[in-house]
Amino acid sequence: MQEFTKQVQNFFAQQIELYGDELAVEMEQLHASTESKVISEEKDVWQKSQTPAELNQRIENCRKCKLAETRHKFVFGEGNPNADIVLVGEAPGADEDRMGKPFVGAAGRLLTKILAAIQLTREEVFICNVLKCRPPQNRNPQEDEIHACEPYLYKQIELIRPQFVLCLGLFAAQTLLKTTRSLGELRGQVHTFRNAKLLVTYHPAALLRFPQYKRPTWEDVQLLRRLYDEWKKS
Ligand code: URA
Ligand code: URA
Repeated sequence: MQEFTKQVQNFFAQQIELYGDELAVEMEQLHASTESKVISEEKDVWQKSQTPAELNQRIENCRKCKLAETRHKFVFGEGNPNADIVLVGEAPGADEDRMGKPFVGAAGRLLTKILAAIQLTREEVFICNVLKCRPPQNRNPQEDEIHACEPYLYKQIELIRPQFVLCLGLFAAQTLLKTTRSLGELRGQVHTFRNAKLLVTYHPAALLRFPQYKRPTWEDVQLLRRLYDEWKKS
């Protein structure tokens, strides 16, 4: 028996010696071809989509991260495909997951009022989120989820070509500005994202819990309105 085991071991040792490298190369090729298939599918999404609606169609069945397993609806975002202003929140909640639309729950109703306060409607801007699918129990977005999903946000902004981006809350701000600075540091200033001016303010859900954030938020959106009016005049 011992002799037999030894023979088997020798046989495999020989096989590995003879074919090990080839096997490794084959595995690598297999891996590379799978990867290049994924990359070419992604390229297809990037190159062929000319409008947000087309992009939505191409990505709405996304399964790039684990949130695909628990979501009900993919929430692309909605609004004017040629908006001058894009609003970016964090991720869909329960209402958004059910309706397939962004900011339709309590935070969304407050957002609609904030927009009205600076004479904007939801229809004239574009509203979306960093993540297109709801994290279970509304937990924070995780790094792998943001990594998988952020190209969609970049492509949306590229297609819409807004003059202004307003980040609602820290996740949007940290994702677009690639920073770990705090919301208190980031708000009240004009940042740049690609060709747009980027502003940061509190998330409307935070205002529901911490009314003391309402005043700075009011100042932030007034600043946005002022810059928008100046840009329109120029
Ligand atoms: N009007 C527009 O056309 N787009 C905006 O984003 C805001 C106001
Ligand atoms: N909170 C968000 O960040 N986005 C939504 O769409 C709804 C709530």
